[in-house]
Amino acid sequence: MFRVSRATLGKLLAPALGAVALACGLFLAQPAAAQHKMNENDMELPTSDQKVVDLGREKYAQRCSFCHGGGGKGGKGPCLTCGKFPYSGNTNTNIYTTIAVGVTNRSMGGTMGAFGTSMSAEEILAVLTFMRAEEKRRIEAGEIPDPYKEE
Ligand code: HEC
Repeated sequence: MFRVSRATLGKLLAPALGAVALACGLFLAQPAAAQHKMNENDMELPTSDQKVVDLGREKYAQRCSFCHGGGGKGGKGPCLTCGKFPYSGNTNTNIYTTIAVGVTNRSMGGTMGAFGTSMSAEEILAVLTFMRAEEKRRIEAGEIPDPYKEE
């Protein structure tokens, strides 16, 4: 019967555990912003994936710019690239939900429609990714004051 002694097992496991620890370390070393999550439970967005951002830009232009302005700067609807989301609360998960189900509460407006029936999950995610990439670009370009900077 094949038997592995404790010592051998230890030798086999040590490098594997080391690799896991290293991977965790690398993951934690990433600055929070690079993950494009607003808190540890929030969903991540591939804001550095240009293909996704471009798909989002295209879908945004087709479906959203009419009300939210070019580049999401706001119009009939609020600014979507200013880093402020009073209707949703500023997390990717909540904003995704707003886009999918709309703003149904009439006392809060009720003009923003539900796009979950006419856009795929992938398209909504792409639009949201585009919004966040654009928000980041605008902050870095000094177009808007950094809403995340602590006073
Ligand atoms: C018919 C105009 C219209 C269109 C088209 C539209 N919106 Fe809106 N949207 C609004 C208005 C107006 C509000 C403010 C809430 C309200 O009055 O219902 C809003 C609110 C929102 C919010 C909430 C902002 C916050 O504070 O969280 C998000 C997110 C949003 N829209 C995203 C989108 C996206 C993405 C699209 C395209 C897929 C889109 N909207 C298309 C009019 C529109």
